Amino acid sequence: MQAMIASGKGPFDWVAGSPFFQAGLAGYSDAAMRLVARRHGCGYCITEAMLDHFLIHGGKGLKAAELCDADHPIAGQLMGSHPEEIAAGSKILVELDYDVVDINLACPVKKIKKKCRGGHLLSAPEEAIAILDAVAQAVGSDVPMTVKLRRGYDDSPEMADNFYRILDAAIGLGYKGVTVHGRTVQQKYIGPSKWPFLTELTKRYADAMAGGFHIFGSGDIFSPQAIFDMLGQTGVQAVSVARGCIGNPWIFQQAHQIIQGQAPTPPTIAEQRDVLLEHFELSVALHGEKQAGRMMRKFGIKFSQHHPSGEAVKDAFIRVKNLADWRAVLDEHYGEPAML
Ligand SMILES: Cc1cc2nc3c(=O)[nH]c(=O)nc-3n(C[C@H](O)[C@H](O)[C@H](O)COP(=O)(O)O)c2cc1C
Repeated sequence: MQAMIASGKGPFDWVAGSPFFQAGLAGYSDAAMRLVARRHGCGYCITEAMLDHFLIHGGKGLKAAELCDADHPIAGQLMGSHPEEIAAGSKILVELDYDVVDINLACPVKKIKKKCRGGHLLSAPEEAIAILDAVAQAVGSDVPMTVKLRRGYDDSPEMADNFYRILDAAIGLGYKGVTVHGRTVQQKYIGPSKWPFLTELTKRYADAMAGGFHIFGSGDIFSPQAIFDMLGQTGVQAVSVARGCIGNPWIFQQAHQIIQGQAPTPPTIAEQRDVLLEHFELSVALHGEKQAGRMMRKFGIKFSQHHPSGEAVKDAFIRVKNLADWRAVLDEHYGEPAML
């Protein structure tokens, strides 16, 4: 936030010019992926969900949360079960200079030791609200707070009530925005994200939105056009790009082309090569070569979809262990390095 204040910019200024952002994506959306996305026109990023106790206990969890100057504006996303712990985690995010603190009440991964966390808190509204309250007390007005929700735990009327209770509480506690994924927790990733739910939501909360509360939408954004379809159909103020940007930072550039009235252009092989190299090098700097090799295999599989010989390239990326292997795949399939 200090970086934002120094630059004279607000953490949600990007909404007006480029109403889309990179979602939290566990196992993917690290600083390397975020910096590549930003270079392609993504104006705001969310970290993957960080477990509060990993932050509080220092070590690797805390190290992974550190930010570089180029990685703003950014929301640090927290997930946890205990109000005191998640509140302590939120204070750490403020100290680490996050611009926004985002609370995850959406993750469908099963609860641990009978304690709810993530999306499972949608079935325990008192606990969810206690968490939102504790974070609000800890963060105060230091940075804006937002929340990530699924549209419900399941399709029952009781869970619909829970959703609205939690969202109303967040607004009452001074939260500045919500991203709603139009699937239920039970649905996980199966079946469509229910965009009409988002449409109803923006109508129901029109006054809150007029008062400065942000409603962002998530689910089934796999093309740049889908961003604008969601904006148009639902009235959300911005769209969260999730699976659609893994191995595809060009989706942000293409969204800008649409804004400028141009047809979106696919990345050339040379552009793909540059991004593949840049992403791996950033990943090595962040994680070291061994872990970067493991991470980048997943990305390579996704990146290969842009290549005319996608299957062969995918197989080659699967075998990559280090930066030298990565460069060899690039040399074989993406042409010679550009002359610098
Ligand atoms: C592998 C994976 C990891 C995810 N991790 C997070 C996360 O850490 N935080 C979060 O808010 N959402 C997370 N999500 C949910 C996405 O942000 C998004 O809401 C969801 O994928 C729906 O959008 P899509 O259908 O366009 O992919 C994750 C989704 C996937 C597929």
